[in-house]
This record gives sequence, C-alpha cells and structure tokens, in this order.
Amino acid sequence: MISDFGFRISDFESHIPHPISHIPVMPEEVITFLGCKPGKLYVDGTLGGGGHTSLILKAAAPTGKVIGMDWDEDAIATTKESLKDYSERMTIVRENFANIKKVMKDLDIESVDGILLDLGISSYHLERPDRGFSFRFDAPLDMRMDKRQKKTAYHIVNESSHKTLEEIIWKYGEERWAKRIAKAMVEERRHGPIATTKQLSDLASSAIPKKFHPREIHPATRTFQAIRIAVNDELNNLNKAIDDGVNLLGSGGRMVIISFHSLEDRIVKQSFRRLSKGCICPNDFPKCVCGNLPKLKIITKNPITPSWEEVAKNPRARSAKLRASERL
Ligand SMILES: C[S@@+](CC[C@H](N)C(=O)[O-])C[C@H]1O[C@@H](n2cnc3c(N)ncnc32)[C@H](O)[C@@H]1O
Repeated sequence: MISDFGFRISDFESHIPHPISHIPVMPEEVITFLGCKPGKLYVDGTLGGGGHTSLILKAAAPTGKVIGMDWDEDAIATTKESLKDYSERMTIVRENFANIKKVMKDLDIESVDGILLDLGISSYHLERPDRGFSFRFDAPLDMRMDKRQKKTAYHIVNESSHKTLEEIIWKYGEERWAKRIAKAMVEERRHGPIATTKQLSDLASSAIPKKFHPREIHPATRTFQAIRIAVNDELNNLNKAIDDGVNLLGSGGRMVIISFHSLEDRIVKQSFRRLSKGCICPNDFPKCVCGNLPKLKIITKNPITPSWEEVAKNPRARSAKLRASERL
C-alpha cells in the first residue's frame, strides 16, 4: 500500500530504530492522517520504541519537529539512544499524556500541528517478564507503565473489595464471568495474598467453567486487561488527553488515535463526536443556549483498520482501529 505521500512500508523499515521489538502499527496511515509536512510541530504522546516518531521525523524532514512523550522510563531511555541522530528535531519528555497541557506550557508552546496517540502497552512491556503484564510468565503482579507510581496490580488485586474487583473486571475487561472471578480472588486472599501473574491467571481461568473458555484468547486475557486499565487509569487519561489535546491544536491540526479494544475506541469515537457537535444543550431545548462551537471535523467516518498484509506481518495490529479528526 502506498500513502498519499508516496511512502511504502519498506521505505520506513530502514528508519525504524534497531534493535526494536515493537513494530509501529499502520505506519503509512499515521503519516497520511497526521498530514506530516516540513516545518510543522507534532506531539507523539506515546513515544514507546520511537517507531512512529521516527516515521514522522522522516516524513516532515528536514525541518519538522516532534515532542515525544512517554511515562515509561525504559521507553524513554531506549528511544533517546536509538533516535539520537534526530536530537535536533525532537524533544523527549517523561510524562503522562494526560498532562499534555502542562508539558506544552512548560515548553512554552501554544499550539501544535498534530497529536498522535498509539494507545496501550508496547511489545516490550509484554516481553519483559518482570513488568508483570503477561500471563505467559510467572512474575510479581505489577503492571505499572510508570514505575514512579505507587499503586501496582498487587494493591488492586489484594486490597479492593469484592464489589470493586467485580466492577473492575466487568467494566474494564467486559468479562461476563466477573462475579465468579472476583469471588475466587477474594476466597484465595483468605489463605494469603495473590502475589504473582500465575496465581491471578490460574484463578481467573479456573473461575470460568471449562466449556465457556474462549477459543481465540487465553481465559485470563480479559481479567489481565481489566486490572492493567485500573492500575494505569487508562480511560481517564485518554479522556483528558483528547479534551486538552484538541485545545492545543492549531487550525487544521490533526489528532490521530489508534486504539486496541472497544472501551478505548468508544471513548475516541464519542469524544470526537461531542467535540465536532459543539452544542451540548439537551435535545428538547428549542434553541441553543450553551453557545458551544464545534472544535473538530471528523476525518474518518468509520475507523481505519490495518490491511491483512500488515496483520500477517504484525499480529499485534489485528485489533487496531485508527480514528482521525481535524481542528476547525
Ligand atoms: C503501543 S506503545 C507505542 C509505540 C510507539 N508508537 C512506537 O511506534 O514505538 C504505547 C506507549 O505509550 C506509553 N503510554 C501509555 N499510556 C501512556 C500515558 N498515559 N502517558 C504516557 N505514555 C503512555 C506506554 O508506556 C508505551 O510505551
């Protein structure tokens, strides 16, 4: 596939930092929807392994700049090193993207031309057993993306009430067996803390009747997703980043968001809709009294999904959905 800018995936591959275990998702689409051009300023709120950032820097060469944010110290350290050739055109900040407004204020920047969020965890999070994100390895229950944070998965799993656990697993994991899993966790805690990913994975799996084990995914997948979202407060961060990010976009600036599950995609879709409507008066008001003006024009009516060729190359891309909007 060739983007509007005439790039092919193979053009990008030499610019993806090595060694890298994370392949950037929908690379051509990201560049196209961000509308990368020389002289413009972009924010990559999810720097990760720097894959998308390096593509933006290449597409916006020789003068386009990127501010790359990530709250994970490993991502920051690795990417600082792998993108050091671009250091004159990029600024790296270790921060939660929900604090984008403060970051821009500290950098004395009033507006930017594009914001990218490529949500969730990176392949290196899943591949590092010590981070406690994966049920494939036995490790302490951690799941923090920002290790400066005190609250870990251990705290949530061992200190939350039965009701809260059930709510977390139901709401953030969309797990129909949430009640049984929460009950099994609370019962297990009577014998001692649930301290490892294996314990949590075994508990979730055995709480779901065998005949209802999903075929496509591990039975503990939804429980792990739910606890991870709760540990990292992922949905609130996303809501805040969209609202504050939109206010930082200059006229014609683009916001591009890639999500990996329906909870995230729903937030992006609904936020873009709300911000493109303007008026927030109740439907039965005869005329608008709020005076809110639309801030965005939605560019992707339906979410963009990766091609089958990309999914074959990078299975992590299979659930990705990209939505883009433009600041009015
Ligand atoms: C899917 S990876 C991004 C990969 C990147 N686009 C690339 O091409 O290498 C998501 C990254 O976003 C970071 N992240 C997730 N939520 C964040 C947040 N609220 N604030 C800052 N960084 C966040 C994670 O630490 C992770 O490194």
